[in-house]
Amino acid sequence: MALDVPPEVPPEVPFVVFQDVWLAYNNRLPRENSFAVEAINLQVRKGQFVAIVGPSGCGKSTFMKLTTGLRMPSKGRILIDGQPVTGPLKISGMAFQAPSLLPWRTTLNNVLLPLEIVEPYRSNFKARRKEYESRARGLLHKVGLAGYEDKFPWQLSGGMQQRVSICRALIHEPKMLLLDEPFGALDAFTREELWCVLRDLWLEQRFNVILVTHDLRESVYLADTVYVMSKSPGRFIVRKEVDLPPMRDLEITYSKEFIDIVHELRGHIGALRQPKLVAAPQGVTSSEPPQ
Ligand SMILES: Nc1ncnc2c1ncn2[C@@H]1O[C@H](COP(=O)(O)OP(=O)(O)O)[C@@H](O)[C@H]1O
Ligand SMILES: [Mg+2]
Repeated sequence: MALDVPPEVPPEVPFVVFQDVWLAYNNRLPRENSFAVEAINLQVRKGQFVAIVGPSGCGKSTFMKLTTGLRMPSKGRILIDGQPVTGPLKISGMAFQAPSLLPWRTTLNNVLLPLEIVEPYRSNFKARRKEYESRARGLLHKVGLAGYEDKFPWQLSGGMQQRVSICRALIHEPKMLLLDEPFGALDAFTREELWCVLRDLWLEQRFNVILVTHDLRESVYLADTVYVMSKSPGRFIVRKEVDLPPMRDLEITYSKEFIDIVHELRGHIGALRQPKLVAAPQGVTSSEPPQ
């Protein structure tokens, strides 16, 4: 009789790996032991939604530049999708605080822009324009912008412009979406609307997301793992798994479990802001060590 042995499952290779990554912005700074980010260790599974929170200037955007290959580390190693990062990545899409749409292009043409300038899409853009257009229309529909395809950026609200910017980041179907404070300039209600838009897209398409934010509620609502960064030089000091159901609606933000997580993270940030209370920089202040 055949033994009931489970088939061997190959160990899952993490999608993003940072191994003891340090970055100084020029060659002189390492000699002075001055780094923008220090000793960053991170492992992100495929399809995970990770948020990185920390005070202004702590190195969040620097972390993003390292993740996209726009900056090479001074020390350490970064692997994305099993490959060492050696230059700017094509498998990611990015969106920032400013939607930075081209004012002379319609919504649809702003979303299509990356396909017009980045290979391999650029070479076949004319031939496949119809297909790309229908992909762009599909995305715009998903984020609630059906009917706005032919409007110009100045005819859209700030929240609508940010929706367009997210569609533009996703048009080439990236494996990873990098968001650097994308909702920072929006009012609280619009921000919450866009949280839901982003969560729905992620639940449907399961690309990896790395979201950088200084909004704790945003990080807990959206992410399944939150990393807290210390003040400059940036280190990860806390890693928190958000143990909430994946299908979240805004009601959850008023629940005790949600508020407790936000409160706990706030405690770590609070401690960072009072120098006398700060533990030694290496100290991991959570029961869950950063990976
Ligand atoms: N291009 C740069 N050249 C030199 N220093 C920089 C550069 N960009 C950022 N820094 C410095 O690195 C640190 C982290 O900055 P940044 O990553 O932008 O922080 P955050 O995004 O968390 O606000 C800051 O001290 C900042 O002054
Ligand atoms: Mg920044």
